[in-house]
Amino acid sequence: MAGEVVDLLRPGPHKRYVDCTLGGGGHSERILELSSPDGTVLGLDWDEEAIAAAQERLKRFGERLVVRRANFREAKMVLAEIGWGPVDGVLVDLGLSSHHVDSAERGFSFNLEGRLDMRMDRRQALDAGEIVNGYPVFELTRILRDYGEEPRARRIAAAIEAGRQRKKIATTKELADLVARAVGCRPGRTHPATRTFQALRIAVNRELENLDGFLQDGYELLAPQGRMVVISFHSLEDRLVKRAFRKWSQSCLCPPRAPVCRCGWSRKVKSLTSAPLTALDAELEQNPRARSAKLRAVERF
Ligand SMILES: C[S@@+](CC[C@H](N)C(=O)[O-])C[C@H]1O[C@@H](n2cnc3c(N)ncnc32)[C@H](O)[C@@H]1O
Repeated sequence: MAGEVVDLLRPGPHKRYVDCTLGGGGHSERILELSSPDGTVLGLDWDEEAIAAAQERLKRFGERLVVRRANFREAKMVLAEIGWGPVDGVLVDLGLSSHHVDSAERGFSFNLEGRLDMRMDRRQALDAGEIVNGYPVFELTRILRDYGEEPRARRIAAAIEAGRQRKKIATTKELADLVARAVGCRPGRTHPATRTFQALRIAVNRELENLDGFLQDGYELLAPQGRMVVISFHSLEDRLVKRAFRKWSQSCLCPPRAPVCRCGWSRKVKSLTSAPLTALDAELEQNPRARSAKLRAVERF
């Protein structure tokens, strides 16, 4: 959704941006091109491979790109560290990069044989193998149900429990086959382990907690008329974004019948997308992963 992102962020000279999810650097590249000659981008990512790839791709922009390895929920702290104030635009493009999905050794894909890893930030200790082989069944069930919206969570968790008692579940393929045996595999349907893998990935990377933490006061990153664009890839993320943007757009947070306002809140932003934008057919042909993308945007008062 690169076109929509730059239409909304309106990159231009002298402007400053934060790309919270630098990834391969595609969006930052567009922003830097369109904010020539002196627009700047702070690019954040917690994955060292993403950072290396983006730095290589964007090296021609020199000091106009500042890169930090950090969790985007710490964006405000990083801005302060580098001496930047509020910025003209913030982009959050959630989810996995193609690099994650296509790399067997990162363990995100049930189609590629790899160790059960799924960490985006490989400095952290917790990985998918630890959850699959170590978490109690009730916790596994909760993860599959809450993060994978998996209706057969209990059955899959029980199969994992039975499987790991026989032998440690070490690889993506072993887990995918076990789930397929537990719930059956119908030709032409999505792989039965799709939701299990999504759930584990969200749990390993604490994706919803990080997004929620960022959305507590993320509007403070923006200067007046600064814009924020968030692209999410599943309904759990989109729900958090929608709720936060709605709150930021309200002029008062008191209960509806309160006689006088006591909340001290004031409207922080106006919405730029009454309904979320989705990818156009042309983009879907090139990039089927954009199928579930939803884009929401706000502008700071
Ligand atoms: C969909 S990709 C971004 C792609 C990028 N916009 C591009 O044009 O290439 C998402 C990236 O966000 C990173 N990421 C996800 N959650 C993060 C977090 N909480 N903090 C920092 N980076 C995060 C991932 O490591 C991944 O590289």
